[in-house]
Amino acid sequence: MDQFKNPSKYVEKILLNEETILQRVQELGKQITKDYQNKDVLLICVLKGALVFFADLIRDINIHFDFDFVQLSSYGNSTQSSGNIVFLRKPLIDINDRDILVVDDILDSGLTLSYLKSYLLSKNPSSLKICVLLNKVSHRIQPIEVDYIGFNIPDEFVVGYGLDFNDMYRGLRYIAVLKDEN
Ligand code: PRP
Repeated sequence: MDQFKNPSKYVEKILLNEETILQRVQELGKQITKDYQNKDVLLICVLKGALVFFADLIRDINIHFDFDFVQLSSYGNSTQSSGNIVFLRKPLIDINDRDILVVDDILDSGLTLSYLKSYLLSKNPSSLKICVLLNKVSHRIQPIEVDYIGFNIPDEFVVGYGLDFNDMYRGLRYIAVLKDEN
């Protein structure tokens, strides 16, 4: 597809290159490893966007863990959050009494993670923490505390490393801002 053959046609600028991302992911993995020593953590990856981040992160977590996936719908095909959050997939592993770490690619309005957090808390976990790769600081509608943040980023629409625009660009190894005409 053209998006891979000629990404510079679509990309305004590269915000985070591959080396920068992987170095930060390694740091997050180390921190999580330290914080969850002697615990049996259940990692929950928020599909689809977090998949790439998650795959790298779990290879930098050196403790015993299990993982599961959830999927929620918030954006549809536009670049704005609709505010209507629904589960497309709920966790299959029992949350009760588990140490849960939710892993998502981006925290934007906060609506998705707030909804997911409330749901998970209603299942009585032992603990619940959240890890996001990207934090779009100035875009919050629903305040939410997160425990691990990869990068704080400006209010720009970003793609790559799992993040999409109309399901394109998820496979880029870097995170980029798209040109306006997309
Ligand atoms: C993205 C991202 C977060 C959510 C953040 O998912 O993965 O889960 O939006 O936005 P918010 O803070 O404004 O709620 P998206 O709904 O685009 O689905 P996808 O990961 O399947 O692309």
